Amino acid sequence: MSAVISPGEYSIRPINEHDLDAIMAIETEAYKFPWTKKIFHDCIRVGYCCRLVEHNNQIVAYSIMSMAAGEAHLLNLCVRHCSQGEGLGQLLLSEMIEIAQKRSVDTIFLEVRPSNKSAIALYEKNNFNELGRRKNYYPAGKGREDAIILALDISP
Ligand SMILES: CC(C)(COP(=O)(O)OP(=O)(O)OC[C@H]1O[C@@H](n2cnc3c(N)ncnc32)[C@H](O)[C@@H]1OP(=O)(O)O)[C@@H](O)C(=O)NCCC(=O)NCCS
Repeated sequence: MSAVISPGEYSIRPINEHDLDAIMAIETEAYKFPWTKKIFHDCIRVGYCCRLVEHNNQIVAYSIMSMAAGEAHLLNLCVRHCSQGEGLGQLLLSEMIEIAQKRSVDTIFLEVRPSNKSAIALYEKNNFNELGRRKNYYPAGKGREDAIILALDISP
């Protein structure tokens, strides 16, 4: 069970260009195959929903989601390594779901590596369902890894 986060201790706000160095530090620690800074720049530039969680003026988590035509794609959700397991992933995922609901999204899609057990557990806890798999989708240490496609129906 995640630690309970005290209300008001953490704040959520949009990501801006000045946050990207701190975000890249978290990204490169969290993933073997991290996004580049340019990808984050592009996500901000094209107007994707980009949010971060701050604690004592430090970025501790962030998420990126695209939304169009009733569909949302959760493209990234990441918690600083030393802050994982404290409920921040859940906090930010709930926020992204709420944003999508307010924008009249019907379904949120995402892809996850089968090896990413903690992320899969988080998404299952939030009622995401498996739609299928993309073969050899991700680069991996040896060869490639499939992607599990998950979807959450949030239609009213
Ligand atoms: C996946 C990730 C976002 C989860 O965030 P987190 O803050 O560590 O997770 P939380 O503390 O909010 O936990 C929420 C739920 O996630 C699941 N979970 C989190 N860590 C887990 C672990 N180590 N093992 C199993 N389940 C886990 C549990 O269901 C948990 O609920 P519970 O505590 O009631 O059992 C985080 O570990 C992370 O950033 N990982 C690296 C980046 C990544 O892989 N992102 C996902 C890409 S698809």
